[in-house]
Amino acid sequence: MDLCIIGSGYVGLVSGACFAEVGHHVVCVDNDQRKVDALQAGKIPIYEPGLEELVHRNVAAKRLRFTNSIEDGLDHSQVLFIAVPTPPQADGSVDLTYIERVAREIAAVLKPGQYRVVVDKSTVPVKTGEKVADTIKRYNKNAEFDVVSNPEFLREGCAVPDLMNPDRVVIGSASQRATDLMKQVYEPFRAPILVTDVNSAELIKHAANSFLSLKISYINAVAAICEASGADVEMVADGIGMDKRIGRNFLNAGLGYGGSCFPKDVKAFIAISRQLGTPFTLLEEVERINTQQLSRYIDKVRDALWVLKDKKIAVWGLTFKPDTDDVRNSVAIDLVNRLVAEGAQVSAYDPKGAEKAVEWGLIDPAKVKLTATPLEAVVDAEALLLATEWPEFANQDFSQVKEKMHTPLVFDGRNLFNPETMKDLGFTYYAVGRPSH
Ligand code: UDX
Repeated sequence: MDLCIIGSGYVGLVSGACFAEVGHHVVCVDNDQRKVDALQAGKIPIYEPGLEELVHRNVAAKRLRFTNSIEDGLDHSQVLFIAVPTPPQADGSVDLTYIERVAREIAAVLKPGQYRVVVDKSTVPVKTGEKVADTIKRYNKNAEFDVVSNPEFLREGCAVPDLMNPDRVVIGSASQRATDLMKQVYEPFRAPILVTDVNSAELIKHAANSFLSLKISYINAVAAICEASGADVEMVADGIGMDKRIGRNFLNAGLGYGGSCFPKDVKAFIAISRQLGTPFTLLEEVERINTQQLSRYIDKVRDALWVLKDKKIAVWGLTFKPDTDDVRNSVAIDLVNRLVAEGAQVSAYDPKGAEKAVEWGLIDPAKVKLTATPLEAVVDAEALLLATEWPEFANQDFSQVKEKMHTPLVFDGRNLFNPETMKDLGFTYYAVGRPSH
């Protein structure tokens, strides 16, 4: 099929590459000419395992190309996917100005007799599809189109496999013609397809991400009780997770959830529920527990070191989770900045995130020493704080780590290390929701 993706960010670019990989012809549109130029020159603006090869292979096979023109994309495609940003506003509600602009741009170039399916892939509040349809109609009375909601559930760091093998594909549609075309788009993926009305599909995305956030806050609240009672949250999570109705996934206690989706989507769902007159107050507690999690962790560090001012502290990890270079809304970055604010001398190492953390102004390199290796970060440190569970941190030579540190104190914010091993190596070890040694 001929497909157009409007917006070549994480969701748009990975979706475009994966659609091309299964044999569709895809035009990716972006209004940022520099991005289009880079993509045309074979440069991938984001780090995502497997993406670069996928893009190169499909460009070479002439199934994938990049342009800055919506008209070009629209003229050559039956189905148009909108994958532009929907950032949060100060009050937590979603900024829909990019979506609205794209709707107007589509209206401006849709020609009579050109039936198109306009698919919203960006995460949007319920009822956005109705507004997109109204907008296109308002700006182009003769437009022939249907609006479909097709939320994307990919995770950063495993976006390609998630897209190639989705748990489910949700198609929110009120038109059989559009539904049939969408089924054709997804047929090669051989995934379960759920067809719903447009509003339900939009709600599914916010409800799913809020539920996963709730699971994380739930286990973090249990971790606090474990700490107070001497129980071990890992064992508790295993025990409750063996119940198939609950499941072990997303029951990892730690510093809380971050990233560009969960914090934003929980806030958005709270705002949507309030706007609809049905406040979802449970989610306010989910947020509160998440914020508290980092404060509880810093309290623990302060309890051990007493005053943080002038203390040399090493932090491992800056990204919001492993296998990504994304540092947006990263709890690790908040941690570093809160330590700096208390006057600590922080050395930090991250395998992929340091450059972007500086480039995006999230870390001040004049105040934080960014090192090239994990070992360099711990030199003379009075404590090592693990903030992101990159696998390479588990494989360090800890006798060397101990030797280089001033005091062998480890605060494992993601329960990555084995407490017994750390104890045997001579570290004083603090985990989240597990007894300290
Ligand atoms: C998430 C959703 O998983 C995905 O379906 C949606 O499309 C976008 O949002 P992503 O933001 O890439 O994906 O990250 P994810 O792997 O879900 O992790 C989110 C955050 O939760 C991370 O900060 C992670 O460290 C944290 N987390 C996750 C926990 O603290 N504990 C867990 O058990 C799982």
